[in-house]
Amino acid sequence: MCGIIGFIGGEQAAPILLGGLKKLEYRGYDSAGIAILENGQIDIAKSKGRLEILYDKIDGGRSFHGTAGIGHTRWATHGEPSDANSHPHRSRSGKFAIVHNGIIENYATLKAQLQDKGCEFASETDTEVIAHLLEQNDTGDLLETIRRTVAQLEGSYALGILSEEHPDEIACVRCASPLIVALSDGGNFIASDVTAVLPYTRHIYQLDDGEIALLRRDDVTVYNAEGRRIEKELKTITWSVAAAEKGGYEHFMLKEIMEQPQAISATISPRIGNDGRIVLDGISLTKEELKAFHRIFILACGSAYHVGVVGKYVIEEVARIPVEVDIASEFRYRMPLVDERSLVLIISQSGETADTLAALREAKSRGARVLSIVNVVGSTIASESDDVLYTWAGPEISVATTKAYSTQLTLIYLLAFYIADALGRVDTLTLRHALNELIALPDQIQKILDQAPQIEQFAQRLCYLDHAYFIGRNLDYAVALEASLKLKEISYIHSEAYAAGELKHGTISLIEPGTFVAALACCERLFDKTVSNIREVKARGAQVLCVTQQGNEAAAQQADHVFYVPRTYPLFMPSIEVVPMQLLGYYAAKARGCDIDKPRNLAKSVTVE
Ligand code: BG6
Repeated sequence: MCGIIGFIGGEQAAPILLGGLKKLEYRGYDSAGIAILENGQIDIAKSKGRLEILYDKIDGGRSFHGTAGIGHTRWATHGEPSDANSHPHRSRSGKFAIVHNGIIENYATLKAQLQDKGCEFASETDTEVIAHLLEQNDTGDLLETIRRTVAQLEGSYALGILSEEHPDEIACVRCASPLIVALSDGGNFIASDVTAVLPYTRHIYQLDDGEIALLRRDDVTVYNAEGRRIEKELKTITWSVAAAEKGGYEHFMLKEIMEQPQAISATISPRIGNDGRIVLDGISLTKEELKAFHRIFILACGSAYHVGVVGKYVIEEVARIPVEVDIASEFRYRMPLVDERSLVLIISQSGETADTLAALREAKSRGARVLSIVNVVGSTIASESDDVLYTWAGPEISVATTKAYSTQLTLIYLLAFYIADALGRVDTLTLRHALNELIALPDQIQKILDQAPQIEQFAQRLCYLDHAYFIGRNLDYAVALEASLKLKEISYIHSEAYAAGELKHGTISLIEPGTFVAALACCERLFDKTVSNIREVKARGAQVLCVTQQGNEAAAQQADHVFYVPRTYPLFMPSIEVVPMQLLGYYAAKARGCDIDKPRNLAKSVTVE
């Protein structure tokens, strides 16, 4: 998720922009840049790396004169972190400069059209396409030029725009990526979130999708998508800076749980073509190569490993290829039967986990083809993989992963069906149905997020527990692993996940009156089997919470508490049933007063063995 700041007023803009970018650093970024408009000329400075590099490059802004400008911290999605891929980007003649947060899903088509007209691109980004389109659509009227340009865009974008022919204005547009306009006596601002402007003002316009704002030194006009001027309600932000960084949520973890619908939509939408086919950019595997693989190995750590466990069930069922899933730190020290007929799937949010990176290198040394699913563009694992599929979850700040885990799941589903389609192992009707259900997943998840208060109420009972057990069969077991880790890693309540059918072979000896057991029962064809496991633990006095699909009334007769979740394609149920478990862990930890975003002993990415 990139950060945007813009200013136009009576003071030098560069130091204000750099200060604003500093406030946006918490969002995570890999490069930064600013553009200043002075006397009808745009000057740009930008660089890969930390903000300090940019700061030193322009002497803290003192060498950049002008009272209007835009700034950007980049979280790479298209194109690795580099000076050239950093924002702002400028149009062919240089008369437009732009910063962007979001993903332009049809950028490849637009880029080809522009190149056919002789446009030369200086970067690999989707954003640069917008700069060139502004010039191509330039009517002399900034508002009209912008309207014509955004009409050609598909995807999400918050834009900050400078035009050399409009030296007394900065413009911005909001569509599916957050953007605010802030007003002060000293000038007016645009920003991705209020943290960047709080040192100057607390008075903002919250832009809605499709709205365009033109900011001058002493006034702001806002237009709706049809180009009609509208009046916006001036809001006063009462948040502290710390609260503002979390978007008003108490913790980054809750903010990231709530961001899952948007993160999943950003990850899957660009990969489902209008023709209903799956388009996996970043994969150069041919049908012949896919046919040649005898086995897929999924290697990862922690929650990413739990995604791999889901992957085994899904890929084997859909693509009919044998799948082994392994904890990376185990894989690298056994004698893995990996060779050139193996496809190794690496899953990693950070792309820097030492155990996972070592497993990747071990697999490559044995001749395997390596495909990775990674959230951080240009990370070590990404750079050492043969193919990379990026999750577009944006920066994940909380140590306990949620939105990265969820977007990894969706790429597993897409990959399974992509392989099955390539190998002719899925019919068109099934593929279309599955993809329609995948597209509907964000809305289904939102229904659960809307019930967060009920889950919080239930979770408050857990906070006195010393032990918890999560059981399930098949995909439910895979989610039980993640549910158990979510609870224990942030609330410090001892928790175990067990294959429900395995409990009776030992661990059931731990079940006694009052023991808490969460039974995940969303695998409908095995529901009766899971019910018998519920009965087993109930017979020994357990308190059972059952998570199952809406309408499954049988569950209520068996469990002490039931949390009903919406239905989706059976193989995608992990994405649904994990959400109440994430919230359960979060609220139990909150009730226990734990340091939720930075749990003891844990790191966001363990880059040592
Ligand atoms: C752990 C994190 O340290 O590493 C987990 O706390 C994560 O959230 C695991 O799942 C693997 O990290 P990554 O970056 O390789 O997905």
